[in-house]
Amino acid sequence: MNNIILRAEKINKHFMAEGIFGAARYKVNALVDASVEVKKGEILALVGESGSGKTTLARIISGLEKQDSGAVLLDRKIPDYKNPDERRKVQYVFQDTYYSLNPRMKIKAVLAEPLKVHFGLKKEKLNEKINKMLQSVGLGADAMEKYPHELSGGQRQRVGIARALSVNPELLIADEPVSSLDVSVQAQILKLLSDLNETTKISIIFITHDLRVVKSLADTVAVMNRGEIVEYGVVEEVYANPRSEYTKTLLGAVKG
Ligand SMILES: Nc1ncnc2c1ncn2[C@@H]1O[C@H](COP(=O)(O)OP(=O)(O)OP(=O)(O)O)[C@@H](O)[C@H]1O
Ligand SMILES: [Mg+2]
Repeated sequence: MNNIILRAEKINKHFMAEGIFGAARYKVNALVDASVEVKKGEILALVGESGSGKTTLARIISGLEKQDSGAVLLDRKIPDYKNPDERRKVQYVFQDTYYSLNPRMKIKAVLAEPLKVHFGLKKEKLNEKINKMLQSVGLGADAMEKYPHELSGGQRQRVGIARALSVNPELLIADEPVSSLDVSVQAQILKLLSDLNETTKISIIFITHDLRVVKSLADTVAVMNRGEIVEYGVVEEVYANPRSEYTKTLLGAVKG
């Protein structure tokens, strides 16, 4: 009906942080009643300063971390991420293009792994699919025989995106996927994500510090501050009429 792929409802999460120089441990509320939803084909931007809880929310949504309370619903059900077929539905693209790929594996092995695990593909079928994946992210077949260090940062991020998309996820979580890249390469990767979203209708949660990116890429935006979602809505509306002081400050920083 309204095609909601992902819903996070009132997620709370705290961490105990180590006090420095022997000071007592103290509680950090990383998420406070945080709720978001993503429809099929929609791009949600999660923005906010460092430490505002963006990665924590993304990790909880993808099952890498457990919430204290609240619910994550994938296709209207609580996902069982121990089940490979459900785990497949949410894929994570990391910020660091170097450390997110095993340096000892050639690109073809990096891309083969999830295809073997999830679809049992072998030999010709496997090579065919790897080729297709490379093409879909704008890389040539010659990338197959290379090691991660033989690629540029932008090319490595394309591999990361290809790996994530190879298992046909419903939701891609891209956690600051371009912040380690040069500005010109950032634009190319953003265009790639936008094109992939158009052609495959994959839903994306895009995490960024950068409000400029939000406007060109996202449909909806959630602004986070100290673990709370302080502003949430359709991008154009939030830009035209920001309600929270925090968003106004962020927008002011961009315009000014
Ligand atoms: N494993 C952990 N142990 C202790 N504290 C943590 C842990 N993970 C996150 N935190 C704390 O939770 C808060 C939210 O962190 P989170 O990484 O979600 O922020 P973020 O918005 O992704 O920041 P950034 O933009 O820097 O990536 C921070 O105060 C952080 O220090
Ligand atoms: Mg983060």
